[in-house]
Amino acid sequence: MDRIRIRGGKPLSGSISVSGAKNAVLALMPSALLAGSALHLQNVPNLADVATMTALLQHLGMDVVHDKAARTLALAGPATGNEAPYDIVRKMRASVLVLGPLVARHGVARVSLPGGCAIGTRPVDLHLKGLEAMGATITVEAGYIEARAPAGGLKGARIIFPVVSVGATENLLMAATLADGETELVNAAREPEIEDLALCLIRMGARIEGIGTDRLRVTGVAALTGATHPVVMDRIEAGTYACAAAITGGEVFLQGARLDHLGAVARVLREAGVGVNEEPAGLRIARMNGLHGVDVVTEPFPGFATDMQAQFMALMCVAQGASMVTETIFENRFMHVPELARMGARINVHGASAIVRGVQKLSGAPVMATDLRASVSLVLAGLAAQGETVVNRVYHLDRGYERLEEKLAAVGADIERLA
Ligand code: EPZ
Repeated sequence: MDRIRIRGGKPLSGSISVSGAKNAVLALMPSALLAGSALHLQNVPNLADVATMTALLQHLGMDVVHDKAARTLALAGPATGNEAPYDIVRKMRASVLVLGPLVARHGVARVSLPGGCAIGTRPVDLHLKGLEAMGATITVEAGYIEARAPAGGLKGARIIFPVVSVGATENLLMAATLADGETELVNAAREPEIEDLALCLIRMGARIEGIGTDRLRVTGVAALTGATHPVVMDRIEAGTYACAAAITGGEVFLQGARLDHLGAVARVLREAGVGVNEEPAGLRIARMNGLHGVDVVTEPFPGFATDMQAQFMALMCVAQGASMVTETIFENRFMHVPELARMGARINVHGASAIVRGVQKLSGAPVMATDLRASVSLVLAGLAAQGETVVNRVYHLDRGYERLEEKLAAVGADIERLA
């Protein structure tokens, strides 16, 4: 079981190149199920989750070639199967994103219910209700979703989301591209990964309007073709390394990072005393004087990203003053708190909010976490802590961060992976 050891106290300095976005590529890959010819993706991050999605699409009969050195994926159909089995879906919830494309293109799909995960129950009711609105018949039994399109295929529909859902927006956006007629997705998610998926679908021949807004209008077409599309940069990876620069009191250039994709994260970092400066090729992050406590509430984009909550909390642990961190998206996303407390952080959780009182110094300790972003928040704390921190269960990290310890070591961190 790999572990990562960090000896803290070294200010980071240098340049980090930001990879393609995990949460973009995990939606772009299943979109290939819609196309009559090969989809070529570029700037593909080398992540465990990409390998899992590759295995799932190959299980469905797709021909997938992942060139890690060239950072490309070539995905060619047609799918010959329509079942996403439990043993794959349980490893990665994003597997449910094959549902919409399979029903839209092949008329039938049998996908294991993803089940919950460490951060919450993670229901998929909005995905299913949207497909039903488009005419699909949905049954759920023995832990599997069975979805069937009507004889003439899915029909366009007006779908209003009661809560903003990234995955449901993606599944239904993909399904709508081949539905008969107009589909309108109201209260759609606006995350940059949705915009990236829409731009790729348009390259494949889809007709989509309202990109970047919370109201997407899709006019169904008879068929989509393959295309070539570069995966958008990972705003959460960029935000994570911005926090790494800030927590160590260093200065780091994030190659390829986009200020507009950081949303409220950039504003909040600046309010906390972190310099976030836009340059032609990326963002320069430098801690100004002291760090001070700032309150955050997680919200759908362009609000403060829930995927940045744990990393920002680690930063607030060494700020001057207090910070209230409120998590509104998931019901159990404070698992990093007890581990940060073992390193000397002062955090009190009250329901969906955590009060963080900054301390002068954290102290290194053996820690572990149960989800991707909680894990990386412990790495950040270890970078600032006095002494040695060993983070266990790093397979969580490998799901969403490409070569984390190499990228951090290259800018001065004393960090290494232990077998
Ligand atoms: C995506 O998950 C991301 N994953 C998550 O990133 C991210 O935290 C989340 O969006 C929010 O931004 C991928 O893109 C692969 P949601 P998703 O549907 O689509 C409720 C990471 O660390 N909901 O936007 O599953 C749900 O319970 C991961 O990279 C329903 O009630 O998130 C939650 O409270 C973690 N019914 C809220 O909506 C549904 O049918 C937002 O969930 C669907 C969702």
